Amino acid sequence: MAPPAVPGDPSRFTVLVGCTVPVQLAVMGGVSTATLAGAVAAAGGLGMLAGVALGPAQVRDEITAASALAGASGRVGVGFLVPFLDVAAFEAAAAAAPLVECFWGDPDRDLAARAHAGGALLSWQVGSVDEALAAVDVGADLVVVQGVEAGGHVRAREPLLGLVEAVRTRVDVPLVASGGIGTGAQAVAAVSAGADAVRVGTRFLAAAEADVHPDYLAALTDAGADDTVVTEAFSAGWPDAPHRVLRSCVAASDADPATRSVFPPVRAFTGDTAAAALYAGTSVAAVDGATTAAAVVAEFRDALP
Ligand SMILES: Cc1cc2nc3c(=O)[nH]c(=O)nc-3n(C[C@H](O)[C@H](O)[C@H](O)COP(=O)(O)O)c2cc1C
Repeated sequence: MAPPAVPGDPSRFTVLVGCTVPVQLAVMGGVSTATLAGAVAAAGGLGMLAGVALGPAQVRDEITAASALAGASGRVGVGFLVPFLDVAAFEAAAAAAPLVECFWGDPDRDLAARAHAGGALLSWQVGSVDEALAAVDVGADLVVVQGVEAGGHVRAREPLLGLVEAVRTRVDVPLVASGGIGTGAQAVAAVSAGADAVRVGTRFLAAAEADVHPDYLAALTDAGADDTVVTEAFSAGWPDAPHRVLRSCVAASDADPATRSVFPPVRAFTGDTAAAALYAGTSVAAVDGATTAAAVVAEFRDALP
């Protein structure tokens, strides 16, 4: 029989990061802008900016804008995708933000050194026990454990809770559980499995502060967990990187591949929203219409220990 899970301790995350609520906004390309990251941070969570495709000056500007919204006690980090990494932007973020994060690449000692030289904590989002061990080995200060339920690009092959439990027994740094967490009860289950905090993406897509097209929000509101699928349909420019989306956008874009967009539809999107990558985790089941970042943070804050 497997040994009982060792529960996490949310104060390990909040003390390390300096925020008050053990909730991290997921990095979401195109969506987790300064407005959303600042609002999550102002509500006590860890706001995250998407650093992908930003140069050093833009990263600094985004951090400044988000920090102004977050207030003096708010905490905002910046996430980067390793295959598209601009090292100068990463260093600029490490010098200006309390936390930088990497995803989708082998944990890297040189990047850890650059993060720490700038004065930032280093977080790494991983999809396996081996990757978690490698992240800690290179010097990550915290590890985000992603389960296969996650929206967007999915590194994991296993369900979240079992993976968190397995990582917890091998890794001592604070752990953040990511993927399919839509309700307070799911967040509590993640902490019981050993996570010290939860990372939430899809739920924040419904926040007024998220730059999400109304059609995307309507599709999320209508969908349940079974309406999502892991696919490689939206792989242009980023091969061998499975992603979880609403099943409907795979069918719509298969019907006319010329309409396929790998970018999630923001408010100003002018293409065919039905055929754009409608990234969503199984947590979409908990999206029930427009809300605010503060309301989502408060929901998890009130549920967690
Ligand atoms: C719209 C969207 C865009 C995403 N873009 C990124 C990204 O640019 N970088 C990244 O590290 N993760 C990205 N992710 C994955 C998240 O970091 C996280 O693993 C996921 O949102 C957690 O699952 P949940 O959506 O069920 O909460 C994205 C997820 C979504 C839903």
